[in-house]
Amino acid sequence: MVEPNKRLALRGAALSFRGDPFIDGDEASLHYEQDGLILIENGIVTAFGDYQAVKTQLRDHNIKQYSDALILPGFIDTHVHYPQTQMTGAYGKQLIDWLNKYTFVTEQQFANADHATLVSDFFLGECLRAGTTTASVYCTVHPGSVDAFFQAADKRNMRMIAGKVLMDRNAPDALTDTAQSGYDQSEALITRWHGLNRLSYAITPRFAPSSTPQQLEAAGALWKKHPHTHMQTHIAENQHEVDWVKSLYPERHNYLDVYSHYGLVGPRAIFGHALHLEDVEWRQLAQTGSAVSHCPTSNSFLGSGLFDFARAKQADQPIRLGLATDVGAGTTLSMLQTMGAAYKIGQLGHYSLSAAKAFYLATRGAAQALYLEDKVGSISPGMEADLLVLDLKSTPLIDFRMQHCENIEEALFIQMTMGDDRATEAVYIAGELAYSRRTTNRSTYSLAG
Ligand code: GUN
Ligand code: ZN
Repeated sequence: MVEPNKRLALRGAALSFRGDPFIDGDEASLHYEQDGLILIENGIVTAFGDYQAVKTQLRDHNIKQYSDALILPGFIDTHVHYPQTQMTGAYGKQLIDWLNKYTFVTEQQFANADHATLVSDFFLGECLRAGTTTASVYCTVHPGSVDAFFQAADKRNMRMIAGKVLMDRNAPDALTDTAQSGYDQSEALITRWHGLNRLSYAITPRFAPSSTPQQLEAAGALWKKHPHTHMQTHIAENQHEVDWVKSLYPERHNYLDVYSHYGLVGPRAIFGHALHLEDVEWRQLAQTGSAVSHCPTSNSFLGSGLFDFARAKQADQPIRLGLATDVGAGTTLSMLQTMGAAYKIGQLGHYSLSAAKAFYLATRGAAQALYLEDKVGSISPGMEADLLVLDLKSTPLIDFRMQHCENIEEALFIQMTMGDDRATEAVYIAGELAYSRRTTNRSTYSLAG
């Protein structure tokens, strides 16, 4: 934890968002300082701007200067399964087969609390290495998997959302609860963890096919009783899954209507994937303030489909949208690689995602999707100082490429196209250095705004 009156100042090129590039345009929403100064006190940003303008506010700050680097808000991963870290990149299946053959086998290991502790700790270390400071995380059906995760996150003082998966059908017996036990266990976890330090609980019905109507109803009732918690689930990832939901819930108009019927739609609801939605579902997502996580490496890995950026951010009905890795169907915890993958998915649908929009979706846009935009996701006074220092020359090829780069937009695009966790030079959690990587032997240059 931060000592009282501990003051830190970070100097270097720095970037944040003051608006939404999908709405305000890229240039108007970017806040880029070529020679920036960020002042931090007791884990909170107190000032951010041009060095010359802000330096008058320096007092007894401990000043750290970064060159050939870019200081950003820490990345936010809006949908990831920590227990699947150990089965990332499992070959050859689409969603339902992949769940049965790999996921439901692996997740059974989390009945063992020691295993859950070990994987939680590894996963969070890898998040930091990737520059990710906040995530919305699926645990397994075992309450102990949630305790292990929150304990590990709290130890690192990370802002994390997580929850116990609810499943009472279409899964192995060892991974199922019941409508009642799932409710009771989730409520006990909410009591234990929700609002403790930087932790928040997400009620987590895995997806409609693995819950009975009774379980979805119980999940809705629990959310109504604890309205400040989040709710996370999957929607319309795979066409066979959509057809399956139709057959399991024939009385409902569409997939989202299943969740809506049970009170699982609204602010702080986060729906993973959303690849095969009807127009009416998009409209309802926008109107209810629900959020979508786009998981590009997962969608291509499982052959699930193409995300429709243009529809998601349609001018008259933009939805809250964040990027996500969806490990272990996603193949990386790196949000840089995830941004690069999102660009390629966009291209296949004739939508060219700009670098500004991609970085927004991994920072402030993701925070907005999670209703955390008043706490994390941007650098400005009052925000929690979760910061990432990105090395702009993390490999010889990127270093060489950057020498032929002329402005910040181009630099961002190169980083998301070519960069990965090797670019993470340092990560600060609430103003404390949480990860650091020493860098050597690279040339010097500066970027115009
Ligand atoms: N749908 C239901 N469960 C899962 C999961 O664990 N991963 C993915 N990608 N989709 C799901
Ligand atoms: Zn998922």
